[in-house]
Amino acid sequence: MDRQSKLTFGNVAALQMEREFVDDQATSLKGVNRGKIISVTSGKGGVGKTTFSVNLAVALAQFGRKTCLVDLDFGLANDEIFFDGVATRNLSDIFNNKKSIEEVVTNTGYGIDLVVGSSGDESISNLDEIRRKYLSNGLERLSKKYDYIILDTQAGVAKTTFDFLMISDIVKVVFVPEPTSIIDAYTVIKMLYRANSYARIGVLSNMVDEDLDGKEIVERFRGSVKKLLNCEVEDGGFIYNSQMVKYAIRLKKPVIVYSPFAKCSVQMREIARKIILES
Ligand SMILES: Nc1ncnc2c1ncn2[C@@H]1O[C@H](COP(=O)(O)OP(=O)(O)OP(=O)(O)O)[C@@H](O)[C@H]1O
Ligand SMILES: [Mg+2]
Repeated sequence: MDRQSKLTFGNVAALQMEREFVDDQATSLKGVNRGKIISVTSGKGGVGKTTFSVNLAVALAQFGRKTCLVDLDFGLANDEIFFDGVATRNLSDIFNNKKSIEEVVTNTGYGIDLVVGSSGDESISNLDEIRRKYLSNGLERLSKKYDYIILDTQAGVAKTTFDFLMISDIVKVVFVPEPTSIIDAYTVIKMLYRANSYARIGVLSNMVDEDLDGKEIVERFRGSVKKLLNCEVEDGGFIYNSQMVKYAIRLKKPVIVYSPFAKCSVQMREIARKIILES
């Protein structure tokens, strides 16, 4: 299967139209000399960061944007699963084998590049400050070659993750509509705010039941943040809880490729479109 068919699964015409529409609107917003670094993070784990990061990266590529997905999981990396195990190097090679970040980038065949995280390598599961700085510098350098770098981070506010949020232009804080997830997402936002993050912070509700009003969930959360911190966070959108995500992962495919017109795929593309138009 060629690259375009892989990206669109035959729905070339409809997606092509969508892409042209976004291009038209985004033309006036172009012209910066480095791409945007977008972190996808959360307070609580298991809320869909990896699912969203992978699909966002593919959606941005479908819109013609040069995109690199970086799996910043230093313990149990899994972004690679979606791309049929294409990589021969991973983040560990930067520290253990003196490779540059450019040397550990792999092309996925889905129109995006990927830096695979490291699994089960104790030596880099807790990066010290010097190594975090080294990797941050590498990511900033890499961003000059791409329109977007997506950082799929670990949950929580550990130093290893937080430093990468601080070099990001955009931070998407993912939460699911449950009290613990919302409280933990709020904690991440509070820390970013107190650390004077320059990023545009957006809140994104994932796994929303179709009978709930996703927009209202996001609005309510934004309202609480405004009230408690007196800080504006952006509407990062919402994604339905969808069986399609499960079917897709069983076939090791991003859902946006497996079922491009499922509601959750349309929502993910909409979020990608908004990012392009606003950055
Ligand atoms: N919109 C969705 N609809 C249905 N299932 C979803 C959705 N998003 C994610 N999931 C499922 O939720 C589970 C957790 O997702 P994922 O691994 O992306 O979360 P994560 O935040 O990256 O987790 P971790 O904190 O462990 O890195 C997976 O089984 C995934 O298939
Ligand atoms: Mg993950």
